[in-house]
Amino acid sequence: MIREARPEDMEACVEIQHSLFGDDKEKCRYYFKKNIKDKDFTTLIAESQGKITGLTTFQYRRWNNIVYAYTLYVAKGFQGKGTGSDLLSEILKRARALKARKIFLDTIRTNKKAIDFYKKKGFKKAGSISDYYKIGKCKDALILSLDVKG
Ligand SMILES: CC(C)(COP(=O)(O)OP(=O)(O)OC[C@H]1O[C@@H](n2cnc3c(N)ncnc32)[C@H](O)[C@@H]1OP(=O)(O)O)[C@@H](O)C(=O)NCCC(=O)NCCS
Repeated sequence: MIREARPEDMEACVEIQHSLFGDDKEKCRYYFKKNIKDKDFTTLIAESQGKITGLTTFQYRRWNNIVYAYTLYVAKGFQGKGTGSDLLSEILKRARALKARKIFLDTIRTNKKAIDFYKKKGFKKAGSISDYYKIGKCKDALILSLDVKG
């Protein structure tokens, strides 16, 4: 089941992000709280049998009419079971409802698994940015985009 995030989902989301990337938990909390209050941001939760298995946060950018996905995370142990696809389908559905032109996202240049996943979903390379990420071994980002068609 995919649903909108609620404040009480925060700790489970922080745990997923921390366990995937080792991100600082306080920073994760800060962004979760900030984004959940912002009307241009949407955080969606994937839930299975009462357990949070994944999340995505995206922003609708009015000025250029695009949706930017900041996160798409599936918890370890739940990957490869269609959860990432379900979350992405929901982003696409909402992007269509907004009549957005494109979905953009960034991923670590060496994250082959994620890049293969997005390419399979029709995303194409839109650019790259060196030294984009503040933490982690690889700091270079690959920017991917998908046309949103009716
Ligand atoms: C990348 C990620 C979001 C994919 O979600 P998922 O739930 O594991 O993927 P799904 O089960 O929905 O798989 C969807 C498709 O991608 C394919 N896929 C999944 N992992 C893959 C891999 N390692 N290599 C190639 N294809 C892969 C599946 O075969 C499937 O194809 P199908 O629809 O034709 O059967 C998830 O694995 C994840 O959260 N990874 C860690 C965090 C991360 O890197 N997030 C992206 C950062 S931007």
